[in-house]
Amino acid sequence: MVTVHVNGKDYKVDENSEKDLMHQLKEQGAEIVAACNGAGICQTCAIKVNSGKLTEKTETEKMMDLPEGQRLSCQCRAQSDLDIELIY
Ligand code: FES
Repeated sequence: MVTVHVNGKDYKVDENSEKDLMHQLKEQGAEIVAACNGAGICQTCAIKVNSGKLTEKTETEKMMDLPEGQRLSCQCRAQSDLDIELIY
């Protein structure tokens, strides 16, 4: 398990799970907007990554041309402790 610091709160997520970061955080009550429920279309689950390591960008994320330091939480999984901020 790794610790994910999100907008002032800490959550524990399983870095070995196949489940994406957005779903693991939402299961614990994190208020992430996820309008397309993980389909990689809406971008409402975007996060700013202040520190930590995530899985590589998916083809979907690469096509979206997100600003530097931003990821889609439905398209990645934690690989270390993280400090992130929700964009929406
Ligand atoms: S939930 Fe829609 S892009 Fe992530």
